[in-house]
Amino acid sequence: MKNDPQGKPFRLAVLASGRGSNLQALLDAQADPGHPAEVARVLSDVEDAPALDRARRAGVEAVWVDPRGGDFDSRLVREIEKADAGLICLAGYMRVLSEEVVVRFRGGIVNIHPSLLPAFPGLRAQRKALRAGVRVAGCTVHFVDEGVDTGPIILQAAVPVLPGDDEEVLSRRILRYEHRIYPLAVRLIAGGRVSLEGRRVAIEGAGGGDLSGFIAPPVDSALPAPGAEEEAGVAPGLGAG
Ligand code: GRF
Repeated sequence: MKNDPQGKPFRLAVLASGRGSNLQALLDAQADPGHPAEVARVLSDVEDAPALDRARRAGVEAVWVDPRGGDFDSRLVREIEKADAGLICLAGYMRVLSEEVVVRFRGGIVNIHPSLLPAFPGLRAQRKALRAGVRVAGCTVHFVDEGVDTGPIILQAAVPVLPGDDEEVLSRRILRYEHRIYPLAVRLIAGGRVSLEGRRVAIEGAGGGDLSGFIAPPVDSALPAPGAEEEAGVAPGLGAG
């Protein structure tokens, strides 16, 4: 990962295949002048992905990388390199990155996943959580390694599973917290506060200083307020790995 020698904004390359609400959260975070990162380039393997439109609306270069053809990974690497990014953010990117891509950018790729990893990796994590009967679900920002949702955990947020929840309702509840922890994780990384110690992620200032509110409950005072539609009585917790 690059840092920011001339005080220039920390650049993000975002890979997204679909709706792009997490991309939007990263874009919205830029409205805060104190936010240290900017989305520099958005890439998608889906030509008509709404995420590409969101990027264009925000004035960010948005590029479709045609997934057909044997050299897709090499083309993807070249397109990512054009972003000159300090961090690659997967935001609903529906392909498993090849070893070529992971090795090329090792330690510089993060993902958001709608479960409390290592539980329920892969697709339809919320449905898996409901079927397993868990009482607590959530989301995870993690570094990307060669596995599927197996990389070191940076931040997690927990939400309750409530009686009567279906996949859609639970997904919506989790998504609100995805939109909070993803920009937060980016901010910590861009600020040079995140390092890897084996499989464990250390966050400078965790357990003290201005991060104390992020690590131990109560957490909400330290985070942006949840959306107005937040259900009463839902008391999410946030932890850092
Ligand atoms: C999110 O639930 C994310 O956790 C998962 O894919 C979904 C993408 O949603 N990886 P969006 O495209 O960011 O709205």
